[in-house]
Amino acid sequence: MTADSAFRTHARTQAGWCDALGSPFTALLCRLIADRLDPAGAMALRLDPLPNNHAADATVLRLTGALHAQVRQGRAPMLAALYPPAPLPDPQALWAALEPVLADPALLPWLDSAPQTNEVARSGVLMPGMMVVAAETGLPLRLFELGASAGLNLRLDHYRYRLGTLETGPADAPLLLAPVWQGADPPGATVRVVARAGVDLNPLDVGSADDARRMLAYVWPDQRERLARMEAAIAAARADPPPLTRGDAADFVEAKVAPEAGAATVVFHSIAFQYFPKNVQARIAAHMAAMGARASAQAPLAWLRFEFDAVDPDAVAAGQPPTLRLTLWPDGRERLLATVHPHGAMVHWH
Ligand SMILES: C[S@@+](CC[C@H](N)C(=O)[O-])C[C@H]1O[C@@H](n2cnc3c(N)ncnc32)[C@H](O)[C@@H]1O
Repeated sequence: MTADSAFRTHARTQAGWCDALGSPFTALLCRLIADRLDPAGAMALRLDPLPNNHAADATVLRLTGALHAQVRQGRAPMLAALYPPAPLPDPQALWAALEPVLADPALLPWLDSAPQTNEVARSGVLMPGMMVVAAETGLPLRLFELGASAGLNLRLDHYRYRLGTLETGPADAPLLLAPVWQGADPPGATVRVVARAGVDLNPLDVGSADDARRMLAYVWPDQRERLARMEAAIAAARADPPPLTRGDAADFVEAKVAPEAGAATVVFHSIAFQYFPKNVQARIAAHMAAMGARASAQAPLAWLRFEFDAVDPDAVAAGQPPTLRLTLWPDGRERLLATVHPHGAMVHWH
């Protein structure tokens, strides 16, 4: 075994995260890569010298995404035989199948761009927040999503939900989201969406086979339910693509968001704010406060955030869960609605 490079230390840390978030297979991949990648091979020569920006860059997940893509496209049959849904393989057997694939130059372009996902189960957290807005305003909703990725959560009114004891959403929905629920039910209000728009620096197109392949490749291969949900949500969105703009979240908010009579204007985002530069975060907050000052009962404004509270990566690493927070103007009070699982698997409703 070679002395740990920054990359290998990162791969071991990521393995712990994968275990904690329910992906023992990805954890095993990360550990094997950290322990056994040949220091003289092309992949190690590319990764080991990299400066330590790995947590932000998610370097090892770029590589595991590339491997998953090879497997899903039938380009690594020996490795595919050991991938889920097969049981967790013996590490020695997995390494024997993995090592030749790691030498495939087709993996290298994947190291150049960050993993980009769109976790549709987060709608199971966002929807009860939207129900609070609908219940308290009695109005239909205009939705603006920041960092929308492929916009799967911008279509949240098209899914069915079980939230506590409450069921809501179209009976023929392509997807049922039923997070493990703790606490009281959310308010039983109907969410009617009259307008929607999303922004992302790099919006993914559900109609593009390449974009869909990439999104699916970054889902951890032993999380079969996440894969199935994403496949169903992409298929449904192809018939009715979410309206997305390519651009910066602050520019979008400043250009588009203002209260309008007859609807509740809702700005929302999930696990995106932490990726926005500090000045972008500050501009969004300033615009929301300024527009909030103009809001009224007939033209309310909401800011719904499913985010990690801690900007400190150590606090995130210590496992502090994300929260769902709502500010609803004209009142303008910030409220903690829920503590939640990062992928939306669990909601503790406050
Ligand atoms: C971790 S993803 C979350 C995507 C989606 N909200 C979800 O919950 O699945 C963060 C997204 O924020 C986008 N992003 C990062 N910086 C941005 C910016 N300044 N303006 C707009 N989008 C940005 C990224 O391209 C990425 O799609």
